Amino acid sequence: MDAKLFAALNDQVNEEAYSAYLYLSMSTWFEANHMGGFAKWMTNQAGEETKHAFKVLEYLQTRGHQPTLKAIAAPGNRWNTALEAFEAALAHEKHITGCYQKLMEQAHELRDHATIAFLNWFVTEQVEEEKTADDMVQKLRLAGDSIGALMYLDGHANKRG
Ligand code: FEO
Repeated sequence: MDAKLFAALNDQVNEEAYSAYLYLSMSTWFEANHMGGFAKWMTNQAGEETKHAFKVLEYLQTRGHQPTLKAIAAPGNRWNTALEAFEAALAHEKHITGCYQKLMEQAHELRDHATIAFLNWFVTEQVEEEKTADDMVQKLRLAGDSIGALMYLDGHANKRG
């Protein structure tokens, strides 16, 4: 594999690991603020992100490279409202989508068809990732200042498998 593309994919392992760390941090904030349903939602999402990190890591290994694990930046751990936390999650997912778009462009330039095929899964996954976060943002906006609606959504988030 091209050295620059390898380096960019290696960085993506870190992006996904940071995603897991960010959502885990959001989970601790929700838990501390008595919104256990949203906390569970975020913990589940952190688990998904860990799987994404492994998926990229294993792909690099399959292609005969040794990935380098880099330091994971500390995420924030304070948000003012549930809406603010989910808006931050949505903004982060958009950032991750951008990362995969750049990776895909690099893979196309190099005509690395194996990597293009690999990245296709993530391109599709990101559509779902953005939708899931955006759905919660829109619901929380509809809830406005209603504590009842917030508690209902927290209960709803708790059911996420
Ligand atoms: Fe692995 Fe939510 O991007």
